[in-house]
Order: sequence, then C-alpha cells, then structure tokens
Amino acid sequence: MFTFTPIGYVRSSYKTTQEIPKGLGAEHKAEGRLEILPEFEAGLTDIEGFSHLFVIWIFDRSEGFDLLGTPPSDNRAHGVFATRSPRRPNPIGLSVVELLGRKGTVLHVRGLDMLDGTPILDIKPYLSSIPTESLRRGWLAEAEARKQK
Ligand SMILES: C[S@@+](CC[C@H](N)C(=O)[O-])C[C@H]1O[C@@H](n2cnc3c(N)ncnc32)[C@H](O)[C@@H]1O
Repeated sequence: MFTFTPIGYVRSSYKTTQEIPKGLGAEHKAEGRLEILPEFEAGLTDIEGFSHLFVIWIFDRSEGFDLLGTPPSDNRAHGVFATRSPRRPNPIGLSVVELLGRKGTVLHVRGLDMLDGTPILDIKPYLSSIPTESLRRGWLAEAEARKQK
C-alpha cells in the first residue's frame, strides 16, 4: 500500500462533471489556479521557466472502476488503460496545463479539466521528445475518422 498526501488543490470554475467539455474535439481552455500548500512552496522554485506542466491528481469524486468502458468520444468499448476514464483501479488523473504565471504558492494555469477542489499529488515540467510522426493515437484516430465520414 502507498499513502499520498496532497501538495495542493485545483481551483476551477467546474463544480460538476457535466460542465467539463468531453468527447471528440473537446478542448480544454479553462483557466484556474493550482493552489499549493505553503509547506511545499520551496518546491516551486524555478517552475516559471516552463510553459507547460504535468499535473498528477486524484479523481476524488469517482467511485469504483470498469476494466472495459465506452468513452464519450466513441460508441465502442475500450480497456480502461487505453482511455482516460475517471473510473480506474487507481483513480489517478494526469493533465497537461499551460503555466500562465506564478504568485507565491499559486500557479495560474490554462487547460484545466478537473473539478474545483481536486487534490493535487504532484507537478512536473512537461517535456516531450517524441516526434509527432512517431505518435499513434489508437482507437481515438479511428473514432475521429469515422466521425468525419
Ligand atoms: C476524461 S478525465 C481526464 C482527466 C485527465 N486529463 C487524465 O487524462 O487523467 C476528465 C473527466 O474527469 C472527471 N473529473 C474531473 N475532476 C474530477 C474529480 N476530482 N473527481 C472525479 N472525476 C473528475 C470529469 O468528468 C472530467 O470531464
């Protein structure tokens, strides 16, 4: 077993999951804040230099899991580890956000898809060295192609 302690909380305008854009073509442009607890402030040193961050967080308002599920972006079932479903064996979320600025322990960000009050477990700078041409988008690319027909 592992025990994690939140390093902070998301402040977003989303109070219910229905308010968060979903499905094919959904864009996450919502701005909000990552409020980090004072005891972790030193850990934010030099974060301003990064344009984007990985935010690792807990689906604290999700219960249980489904190994197979039909996501909002398709009408076919897929394995939970091939989706970003909130209903997972370990309810951990991962979002990439744009860092707009920092004031002390508060990070202003764009691209939130989390409910207000979501506990944050960790933050890391977003770095990707994978060339676009090497990326495959699996069933999502097929669902997008079907939609365009
Ligand atoms: C599809 S998940 C993707 C989350 C993240 N980008 C990821 O890939 O892990 C996003 C959805 O999770 C749900 N959600 C957001 N915050 C949540 C929370 N704190 N607890 C439970 N569900 C949440 C909302 O329905 C939202 O549309």
